[in-house]
Amino acid sequence: MKDFSGRAVDDVRKFRNALATFATGVTVVTTRDGEGAPQGFTANSFTSVSLNPPLILVCVARSANCFPIFAACKHFAVNILHEEQRAVSEVFAVGTGDRFSGIDWEWSPLRSPRLRGVVSWLDCRTVQSIDAGDHIILVGEVEHFDYSQEAPLGYCGGNYISFDLAGKALLSTSTGDAVEVGAIIEYDNCLFLQKGPAGILKLPCADRLGVQGDDAGLYGLLASAGVTATLSFVYSVYEDETRHSQCIYYRGVASDLSCSAKEQLLPIDAIPWSEFDDPAVVSMLQRYVREKKNDAFGIYIGDEKQGRVEQLATQVVE
Ligand SMILES: Cc1cc2nc3c(=O)[nH]c(=O)nc-3n(C[C@H](O)[C@H](O)[C@H](O)COP(=O)(O)O)c2cc1C
Repeated sequence: MKDFSGRAVDDVRKFRNALATFATGVTVVTTRDGEGAPQGFTANSFTSVSLNPPLILVCVARSANCFPIFAACKHFAVNILHEEQRAVSEVFAVGTGDRFSGIDWEWSPLRSPRLRGVVSWLDCRTVQSIDAGDHIILVGEVEHFDYSQEAPLGYCGGNYISFDLAGKALLSTSTGDAVEVGAIIEYDNCLFLQKGPAGILKLPCADRLGVQGDDAGLYGLLASAGVTATLSFVYSVYEDETRHSQCIYYRGVASDLSCSAKEQLLPIDAIPWSEFDDPAVVSMLQRYVREKKNDAFGIYIGDEKQGRVEQLATQVVE
């Protein structure tokens, strides 16, 4: 336990280190200043606050150059960065001069800068500005927003991180076990399922993720089955000890399906569980059906019989 009452410099550093163990996404918070110019800074203190009314918050340091602008702003936008936008985060954290000059952006409906290529954006009206030590808490009511299934940029321990657990899991498989890379693909409240020998239902699955054009990889398999899908999130990582397999399943959404692929769709609420022969896949899909109802998906890590589900947190701190 750390005694924080004396607050020596070293304690403050340790306090920062303790806070930094909390993994977050990365956002760029933007607004328009009094002269109509775009302003923005990188922030990971973004947190959801209320669903009804839809409120979010972000903490702004009093020491920031842009502090007076954000402290007075009537509107602001939160741009949640894509995992490929680390350079954008750096521009808005350390960049000098016009931070928007090399950035692809446009005005949001409430006239705050909306960055292109982000995972999600929230267009807010400022409803409260609360004094909180060396920061203010800016509370915004969300009036417009949009989101995608793309993977967000992560931040933890002072470093940018990737939520691509599957890639890491694949790199760490040195056991000589087979690798099974599959996908739960949703389209119009249905799942895309394939039929194996004897009519057994299965998820599309290959021995690697591969790239477009690699027929033996999952992407190639999906393309030849007529499915255009983005696989952004890992859903399940487990070792199937019975089959000596390392299994990694993604979840994704199909944007387009051929006519024959549409015939392989089954409604999410009417999956014929008895037509599968892999209990691990059944258990994973039943979890998917449950989590879909709450629109809150976790990641399973374990083996084919037992493991834990990590919930994806939405709360973040600086
Ligand atoms: C990942 C990351 C997260 C950050 N989060 C915040 C934050 O939540 N609030 C804040 O005031 N500064 C945060 N900062 C620091 C600001 O982005 C940085 O101080 C920025 O330069 C402020 O802009 P300005 O001083 O040039 O106006 C963060 C920086 C990084 C790299």
